[in-house]
Amino acid sequence: MLVSGNEILQKAHKEGYGVGAFNFVNFEMLHAIFMAADEAKSPIIIQASEGAIKYLGIDMVVGMAQVMAKRYAHIPVALHLDHGTSFESCQRAIDSGFTSVMIDASHHPFAENLELTSKVVAYAHSKGVSVEAELGRLMGIEDNISVDEKDAVLINPDEAEEFVAKSKVDFLAPAIGTSHGAFKFKGEPKLDFARLQEVKARTNIPLVLHGASAIPEYVRESFLSTGGDLKGSKGVPFAFLQEAVKGGINKVNTDTDLRIAFMAQVRKVANDDPTQFDLRKFFTPAMEAMRHVISERMRVLGSAGKI
Ligand code: G3H
Ligand code: 13P
Ligand code: ZN
Repeated sequence: MLVSGNEILQKAHKEGYGVGAFNFVNFEMLHAIFMAADEAKSPIIIQASEGAIKYLGIDMVVGMAQVMAKRYAHIPVALHLDHGTSFESCQRAIDSGFTSVMIDASHHPFAENLELTSKVVAYAHSKGVSVEAELGRLMGIEDNISVDEKDAVLINPDEAEEFVAKSKVDFLAPAIGTSHGAFKFKGEPKLDFARLQEVKARTNIPLVLHGASAIPEYVRESFLSTGGDLKGSKGVPFAFLQEAVKGGINKVNTDTDLRIAFMAQVRKVANDDPTQFDLRKFFTPAMEAMRHVISERMRVLGSAGKI
């Protein structure tokens, strides 16, 4: 049975580890996530974006998640809406069977973000569903960024404290220098860990790291070796992920790594045997590569062995 995000993340918050929140857009990605959780004995959050919901249909997203949660009944798992953009989107997810939602109103002014988040929290909590919100803008911080520029982009700890107290939100995603996709840093990777620690101390709730893909060298290489192009790509190093977990991150959003690992194997089969057109011959090694990346991540984040 799917459990609420709170059930998984309150434990991680108390014990100081990170839980991977893995995106899926089809059965193969979902299956790989569950196989990894089973192998690493780890709780999981499975998440679908509005784009994934449009692609699959919300009944399919929830239906597949429920079937897999039942098949792997020993694994604590929450189904989370990633980057919900409106109250209606969150309401539809909750009414359809999601057990956790994100309302992403971080591009609105503070007061509007607070108002919209509070409205989602009131509805979600009446149904036993947890809520994530975001403060600040997701973007990399350059070496030469000024203090003022940094303050304008990244989360403000004073605002974080007020936001959490007033909205009663369950989890907060603080912008500390990560961004989505494969191109996170122009120079050396850089995150504002001091700011993260300050936000944790002031809010004392589970925090969420978006844009947390690492693009490990072997994953990049698997894609490049098939003729793929990832010029200029850079992820969050494992050591940074661990530092972030130490600083209070408990939910670690990961999508790009899974896509690259999966598609590298699809490309490889296509390159190796141009006559191949049996889907299963492409997807079986692709799921296997993804499973490996995910179970390794569970060990890096400390969620492995927690069930
Ligand atoms: O944060 C975004 C996730 O990686 C989902 O991306 O909107 O392309 O499904 P998507
Ligand atoms: P990545 O693009 O780093 O995998 O981040 C995914 C994410 O934040 C989903 O919300
Ligand atoms: Zn995100």
